[in-house]
Amino acid sequence: MTLALEMLLPHIEGFCLHCRAGFENELQAEFDYRTRTTSLQGNFSALVPGLLLWSGSCTAPLAERNLQLLNFLDHCWPQWIFARQCSAVFATLQDIDTSDRISALLNALPPYLKVSQLLCETADTNDGKSLSRLARALESRLFQGLQVRDHWQKTSPWRLHLIFISGQHILLGLIRLHSASPWPGGVPRLKMPARAPSRSTLKLDEALQVFLPPEEHSRLLKPGSSVVDLGAAPGGWTWQMVQRGLLVTAVDHGLMQAELMQSGMVEHLKADGFIYRPRQRVDWMLCDMVEQPYRIAQLVALWVQFNLAKAIIANLKLPMKKRWDEVQLCQDIIRQALRKHRPDARFYARQLYHDREEITIAILPPSG
Ligand SMILES: C[S@@+](CC[C@H](N)C(=O)[O-])C[C@H]1O[C@@H](n2cnc3c(N)ncnc32)[C@H](O)[C@@H]1O
Repeated sequence: MTLALEMLLPHIEGFCLHCRAGFENELQAEFDYRTRTTSLQGNFSALVPGLLLWSGSCTAPLAERNLQLLNFLDHCWPQWIFARQCSAVFATLQDIDTSDRISALLNALPPYLKVSQLLCETADTNDGKSLSRLARALESRLFQGLQVRDHWQKTSPWRLHLIFISGQHILLGLIRLHSASPWPGGVPRLKMPARAPSRSTLKLDEALQVFLPPEEHSRLLKPGSSVVDLGAAPGGWTWQMVQRGLLVTAVDHGLMQAELMQSGMVEHLKADGFIYRPRQRVDWMLCDMVEQPYRIAQLVALWVQFNLAKAIIANLKLPMKKRWDEVQLCQDIIRQALRKHRPDARFYARQLYHDREEITIAILPPSG
């Protein structure tokens, strides 16, 4: 017997989106922008800093409504800039009996629901961090409960998200596996390498993990490939590439870490990153110069226009005000160049966990 979609999927109430605390307005502006051509209408509420709930009104029949909402999330996922994680919320548990949270959570699942992954999530704040200890403690018992009640199926395309707002207030969400981040809250756990010259190193490490699917690492990060790193000092980004065996031209008037220079894999040019151009096309251009974002966007567009690098990762430092407007301006500059000169390239922009008042953009050659 094939079950109808409305029996497999619970009633979806809305979306839960994670962002960096303090960027809720930017995420809301982005959401409005992405829904402007859809029939989705609803309201946002900030559950706690860094966690937004969108609740929508829609008169379509249940299955159709659910599909519309899920398709929207599928479509948006690789494009979100300010959302690090998302899921479709189908139940909200409040005032849970704290002596038996597991039963309350399992009882909220529709009988036919099958999932193949489970994520317990909290906001990316200090309160969220203390709550994550409780979330982690419940995770393995919940996993057993899902198996016992026959909700676990290895081949299911769905992942269950439990979003802890407090110890007694938990949202239950669903998402297709490929339509959200594999890490709780969209935050990869990266360890600061002891020998790296700066904490900035984690920004590039995260960017490579978020934007480059694991199967593409061996193709696009081949040892011996060439890199230009604009604004490289003291060398955190360069260090990441050197660790992977790539050869770097580091452009910066500042000093590079001595140990990194001893690797013999870095050439340091004391030059202006806006003026420097490679003699021939390089595999990667990296840019972490502290400058007006639109100037960096124009520089990236120029590298695209003259086809100076196969792939680009650049950081855009955002202004204090009108950040969404600035992001759109920068995106327009880069997208226009891509449409004209590299229409097959992939383009992503995201505020990564290790980004503060900034976003990271990536331009990659076509996959495969
Ligand atoms: C945020 S730091 C880069 C950190 C580096 N990515 C790391 O991981 O260690 C910004 C760097 O940009 C450099 N910079 C700013 N304007 C520049 C320009 N016009 N040309 C070259 N470097 C520039 C600064 O000297 C500074 O070292």
